[in-house]
Amino acid sequence: MNVPDDAGFATRSIHSGESADPSTGAHTPIYQTATFAFASAEQKEAVVDAAMAWEPASFFYTRTGNPTTDALERKLASLEGAESAVVSASGMAAVANTLFSLLKAGDHCVASKDVFIITRFLLDDVLGRRGIDVTRVDVTDVDAVRSSLRENTKAVFIESLSNPHMDFADIPALAELLSSSGIPLIVDNTFVSPYLLRPLEHGADLVLHSATKYLSGHGDTVAGVVAGDKKRIDAIRYELDALGSAPSPFNSWLVLRGVRTLPLRMEAHSRNAQALAEYLDARDEVEAVHYIGLPSHPHHEVAMRLMGSRFGGMLSMKLHGGAEAMNTFVNAVRLGAIAVSLGDLRTLVYPMPKRDNLIRVSVGCEDIEDLIADFEQALSHPKVHAAV
Ligand SMILES: Cc1ncc(COP(=O)(O)O)c(C=O)c1O
Repeated sequence: MNVPDDAGFATRSIHSGESADPSTGAHTPIYQTATFAFASAEQKEAVVDAAMAWEPASFFYTRTGNPTTDALERKLASLEGAESAVVSASGMAAVANTLFSLLKAGDHCVASKDVFIITRFLLDDVLGRRGIDVTRVDVTDVDAVRSSLRENTKAVFIESLSNPHMDFADIPALAELLSSSGIPLIVDNTFVSPYLLRPLEHGADLVLHSATKYLSGHGDTVAGVVAGDKKRIDAIRYELDALGSAPSPFNSWLVLRGVRTLPLRMEAHSRNAQALAEYLDARDEVEAVHYIGLPSHPHHEVAMRLMGSRFGGMLSMKLHGGAEAMNTFVNAVRLGAIAVSLGDLRTLVYPMPKRDNLIRVSVGCEDIEDLIADFEQALSHPKVHAAV
């Protein structure tokens, strides 16, 4: 459905990109097909040519384009305030194809020091094997980014909120630094979601997500998305098509369904995470809580400037008592599944013995009283409490 660009975020989450199937009236169906039939040879020629030029709504083969995926792309472009968006089979397909579209052998890329581990493999190994040099720096330090730029730097890649230390980058300051250079600023905004932060509004050139997380919201699919201007997105489409990174129509539909409730879920995640972070911060068993909604967080002021008073659902914590306390605690938590990933309706806890015994918590949408009571009984376990 065509809702105006100035309609509210929730209205666009529900309606943008969607349409009823003309023959049945079904709301945005799953077009579970590999190929699309044509009425004539002439029509085939026109549609295939249009599809290969990335013209909208030209469908001939689902690796190149599909109406269910197209509906999701139009919805996400609207939410990000972008001219265009492309959906991919996973968040990593979005990260990799975006970088492949911008970088070739001999080029240099600057990227965050603290990034998702598979992105780290891509930056430190996969790109290196293709002759692309990568410098990883603390991107919350604009001077460090400035001094790492080179003549052959062709991209700066950051995560808005980093994993697992929850560092928050000053996107407008980085955009300002790069503004006269023509070097695109790419923001992985997975941990925050477009409901809370839209990096393109702050000067970034491309924004991407693991749609597996908050956009889908239910922990039942894997997908990715990149949004930005049409020229850059078309270049990414070309890579995605050539590298076979298209999503399945069913997965696109699951994300489409999830995005309709994004504003409701992000309000609940933010409310719960703020309350849980404040609770944990006051507990003797807890050595540190990293949550950008806490005034003690070093990037709280930047987060307030860019996001106002809601800070999302991601926090990490460290207990006194080392690995034994960490393992005992996560084993004792009942409402939080011990699981990787984030952005699910259910709370997920993820112990990281190789990352300073941090426990990453993706705070879910359960009743906050139940969550706090559950964390309290886990903190009260003798092996956790004994370390105080
Ligand atoms: C910040 C971030 N970016 C990208 C990815 C990759 O996404 P996917 O697992 O959908 O490939 C993840 C996955 O956890 C992530 O946390």
